[in-house]
Amino acid sequence: MTSRFDTFGDMYEEMFRLPWRARLESFSVFRVLGDLSGEQVLDIGCGTGLYSREMKRRGAARVVGFDISEGMLTVARQAEAAQPLGIEYVTSPPASEPGAFGTALGVYVLPYAEDYPALVGLCSVAARALRSRGRFVTLPVNPDFDGRRDYYARYGLRLFDAEPRADGSRVTLHLCFGRYDQRITARYWSRATLERALREAGFDEISWPAFDVSEEGTAQYGAEFWRPYLECPHAAIIACRKR
Ligand SMILES: C[S@@+](CC[C@H](N)C(=O)[O-])C[C@H]1O[C@@H](n2cnc3c(N)ncnc32)[C@H](O)[C@@H]1O
Repeated sequence: MTSRFDTFGDMYEEMFRLPWRARLESFSVFRVLGDLSGEQVLDIGCGTGLYSREMKRRGAARVVGFDISEGMLTVARQAEAAQPLGIEYVTSPPASEPGAFGTALGVYVLPYAEDYPALVGLCSVAARALRSRGRFVTLPVNPDFDGRRDYYARYGLRLFDAEPRADGSRVTLHLCFGRYDQRITARYWSRATLERALREAGFDEISWPAFDVSEEGTAQYGAEFWRPYLECPHAAIIACRKR
C-alpha cells in the first residue's frame, strides 16, 4: 500500500539518533519492556525497524515487524539484508497466528488512527496477535502535551494543535532537525478514549509508566536540557495486558 510515510525512511533512521529518542524514549521503552530473552514480539507500525532490530539484539527469539508503508519496510528490509538478524517484515498483520506473541510494541502508531474504529482496530491487531496475559506497550501522543509552538523545539520537534483539542482532532508534528523540515498530521486521543479503545480490544491492567533519561543522557546533556520534556513529554507510554 502507498502511504505518506513511504519517503520518510531516512528521516526516521536519523531521528532515532537524536538525544530524546536515543537517551530518553528508547531508554524508557526498553526499561518498560524488560528482559526480552526468548520473547516472540510483534512490532506494529515498525517503520524502518529501529525497535525491531534493537529488540532482536536484546535477545528476542522472534521479531515480526508489521507496517502498511512499503517505503518504510524497504528501508527495514535493506537493513536486514545488510546485517541479517532474522527479522520478518510484513505488510499485513499476522492473522494466521493468533496468540503466537508474548509482546506487542506500537511506537507512534496509534496517533495515525484517524477515527475511533481505526484506533480500536490497531489495538485489536495487538490483542489478536498476543496470547492471554501478553503485554502491549504503545506510545500515543501525550494527552496532556504542551501545545506551545516551541516547547519541544530543542529536541528537534514541534507539536501543536491544528484544531481545537478533542478526540480525533488533528495535531501537527513538525520534525525539524538536521536537513529535515517535515510536517506530519497526526491525531489527538484523550486518556479516557485511549483506555476505552484498549479495553474494547481486550486489554486490562492499563498503566502509564513515566519517561526517564539514561545516565549517559544526563551526563552528556545535563538535567536542565531534559527538564521541559520530563515535565511534559510530547508522547506517553501505555503498558497493558491482554485479558
Ligand atoms: C511515526 S512512524 C513510527 C515508526 C517506528 N515505530 C518508530 O518508532 O520509528 C509511524 C508508522 O506507523 C505506520 N502505520 C500507520 N498506520 C498504520 C496501520 N494502520 N497499521 C500499521 N502501520 C501503520 C506508518 O506507516 C509508519 O511507518
